[in-house]
Amino acid sequence: MYFDTHAHFDSEKFEGDRLEVLASMPAAGVDLILDPGSDIITSRAALALAEQFDFVYAAAGVHPHEAEEVTDSYLADIEELCRHPEVKAIGEIGLDYHYDFSPREVQRKVFAAQMALARDLDMPVIIHDREAHEDFLNIMKQFPTVRGVVHCYAGSLEMSRDILKAGYNISFTGSITFKNNKKAPPIVAAMPADRYMIETDAPYMTPVPHRGKRNDSSYLKYIAEFIADIRGITPEQVAAETLENGKKFFGIE
Ligand code: NI
Repeated sequence: MYFDTHAHFDSEKFEGDRLEVLASMPAAGVDLILDPGSDIITSRAALALAEQFDFVYAAAGVHPHEAEEVTDSYLADIEELCRHPEVKAIGEIGLDYHYDFSPREVQRKVFAAQMALARDLDMPVIIHDREAHEDFLNIMKQFPTVRGVVHCYAGSLEMSRDILKAGYNISFTGSITFKNNKKAPPIVAAMPADRYMIETDAPYMTPVPHRGKRNDSSYLKYIAEFIADIRGITPEQVAAETLENGKKFFGIE
């Protein structure tokens, strides 16, 4: 019943039990998983998992942390990955001014180049924006035909309105369940039913009550329960709405 729209099962944190954990997901109520790449190697690893499990799909892209490491062929490599029917988006891409692992100028250049590729290939994008809201919105506006989702949303209520107005979806992780996160509940409450998605961002962002442990898609239910409580609906309704929104966004039948 659940669609985990963002989970990094290609991560080294799943070394040793990756295939067992993935194989256990349908029995845990997880119908679909999308594994986004962080660079070319992890994008290829995500595609390999998508080829192995029929409920897993992939996205290909270079994360802002890795922007400085790109080779001359990275755009051609992403384009080639996008020709595969199991690759449903370009991502995750964007800007991270919190860690600044790559120089900001390089982050902006690599992000804009991947946005241009998404426009040319007519692919949706998965956005990582951390403390870079203004530059993200400026680059986004240069590509008005590109459809996107802002993953692990951590911005303001006001910015969420700008994002929705631009036609982008918003996706929530376990970070909304953290006790010190006072910003999230009003944003969750205000979401149009057809514009939000849920994700674990596994192995990171583990929701309460498992915070601190390795995350996986079976913990999506805690995020759905938290959202259901705020919106005054059932977790099953949250699961149904977000499954539908995710399938529509990624073009999955
Ligand atoms: Ni991620």
